[in-house]
Amino acid sequence: MGHDPAAALIDDQGAIVAAIEEGKLGRTRSFGGIPRGAIRFCLERARIRWQEVERVAIASQPGRAFFRKALFRARLAPLAPISSAYYFNKALGELGRELNNSRILQELAGGAADRVINYDHHLCHAASAYFGSRFEKSLIVSLDNQGDGRAGIVGLGERTRLRELSSIPFPNSLGWLFTQITSLLGFSTSASEHKTQWLSLSGEPVFADIFMEMLRRGPKGVPHLNKNISNGTSGESFPSAGSSIAGSGFRRYLSSNSLRKTPTTGCA
Ligand SMILES: [Fe+2]
Repeated sequence: MGHDPAAALIDDQGAIVAAIEEGKLGRTRSFGGIPRGAIRFCLERARIRWQEVERVAIASQPGRAFFRKALFRARLAPLAPISSAYYFNKALGELGRELNNSRILQELAGGAADRVINYDHHLCHAASAYFGSRFEKSLIVSLDNQGDGRAGIVGLGERTRLRELSSIPFPNSLGWLFTQITSLLGFSTSASEHKTQWLSLSGEPVFADIFMEMLRRGPKGVPHLNKNISNGTSGESFPSAGSSIAGSGFRRYLSSNSLRKTPTTGCA
């Protein structure tokens, strides 16, 4: 519910009855919080009331997100105490907002605590990619900025089950790096990443070497951010370097699990 909130209604057979982003109804990209209009739209489309909804699933675990972010920042605190304190306060505010949103949703859903369930953010990305595909068994890669405090996961989808194989900790985040490029180019973050991604398709990969140097493969084959490089870059070569590093790194998981298919997912 941090940015681009949306609602989807799924029936007892697993079919999507209705789904829409709140921003589409309000014609704005700047909305955050509980997607009340989108929820109302889904209920009206299915002609049901809140009381008839069996479970409410939220695609984030605020407590775990806060813990991971606080742990990451605590390591940097001796080097940058003021910015760390600011970051910690911001993360605390986000935790309060998310917990309050969960509480309001619980009240809307009728008050029973077990009707509202928080799921891991990357597991939700993985579920939407894998269950929306036609694959019986596949590798799943979820990459985003820092969903629930993590840069991504590599998982395995088998029939109705999902299993996490590897976790990619922040700051080794392709999504975060792309957000920095978006900001450097003068676009708004957590909103215009897709714009810069599409613009990059018309560029030449003149900065590919720099991005390859930025995004080395880590020991487990997943992206590893070289923190010594942070300036003098442009966004146009990033997708080719990112996909090259990510692609070759994830091949190891494909061969070790005898797989050929990989749905990819994530958000900025
Ligand atoms: Fe995400």
